[in-house]
Amino acid sequence: MKKNWLALSLAWALALSGTAPILHAEDNGAAGNSAAGKGKASSCGGCHGENGNSAMPTFPKLAQQHSSYLLNQLHAFKGGNRNDPVMSPMAMALSDADILDIAAYYSAQHISANPAPKLPPDEDSDAATDEKKAKETIQALLAQGSNLYRNGNLTSEVSACIACHGPSGEGNKPAAFPSLRSQHADYLIKTLTDFKSGARSNNVDNMMVMIAKKMSDEEIKAVSYHISTMK
Ligand code: HEC
Ligand code: HEC
Repeated sequence: MKKNWLALSLAWALALSGTAPILHAEDNGAAGNSAAGKGKASSCGGCHGENGNSAMPTFPKLAQQHSSYLLNQLHAFKGGNRNDPVMSPMAMALSDADILDIAAYYSAQHISANPAPKLPPDEDSDAATDEKKAKETIQALLAQGSNLYRNGNLTSEVSACIACHGPSGEGNKPAAFPSLRSQHADYLIKTLTDFKSGARSNNVDNMMVMIAKKMSDEEIKAVSYHISTMK
């Protein structure tokens, strides 16, 4: 049964990537200039880090992200289809050429690995049991997340993430499916919750909205922790 569901997800992914949904200028052969992008991205570093590896877990890492996906998101912020009080004004100040160059720059950087995820200690128990309990909880969460990533959830019809985001979270450049590996768990939880509530719905196909709506908050947390450990 699980196999059938994966096959269905894969068929969906292939059908979608075949239609190349929402690519921008790159489609027409225009390519960004990474060296120029480095200079233009200097104002982004305060939040997204020197080379797109942000230190703060609520600011997404941009390093090694597909230029196709970065273009889509920057145009979505600029055009008002994706909204964030911090990011929207930043994107509005960029020209289309700036966006191409910055996307080229970040896609050429290497993403850094995250430290092993930890849960905050439980207040009611003593330190030793605490640490053991936290370790068990995180291991159970990671296992649940890994299972959901690879197999989806047949009962609630959550598609397998692997179908579009790839076996190691590498995404798919031509289809503009984002790379997810080594992204901060806090950002992943936030953005999946935004898809679930519809607060983030800029993609015309709304694939992620449909998927996230079927996910429980616990599944969102589990898969986010798992993805943050993928390399
Ligand atoms: C003051 C902090 C801040 C600065 C400066 C900033 N950003 Fe962001 N950026 C954010 C936050 C916060 C988000 C996540 C928004 C959300 O949750 O939807 C984000 C999201 C993004 C995303 C979407 C990433 C994804 O995985 O979907 C891109 C692309 C991006 N920023 C590019 C830039 C660029 C390019 C600049 C410089 C021109 C910049 N940012 C400057 C805070 C910042
Ligand atoms: C049918 C293809 C497909 C499947 C299956 C899929 N995704 Fe996605 N995902 C996408 C697309 C397309 C986007 C870009 C959406 C946009 O542009 O707003 C995306 C975006 C995301 C993002 C935002 C990344 C960022 O940097 O902001 C996260 C997180 C994500 N997906 C997680 C998942 C998880 C977890 C699963 C499995 C439960 C999953 N996806 C299954 C196609 C898919």
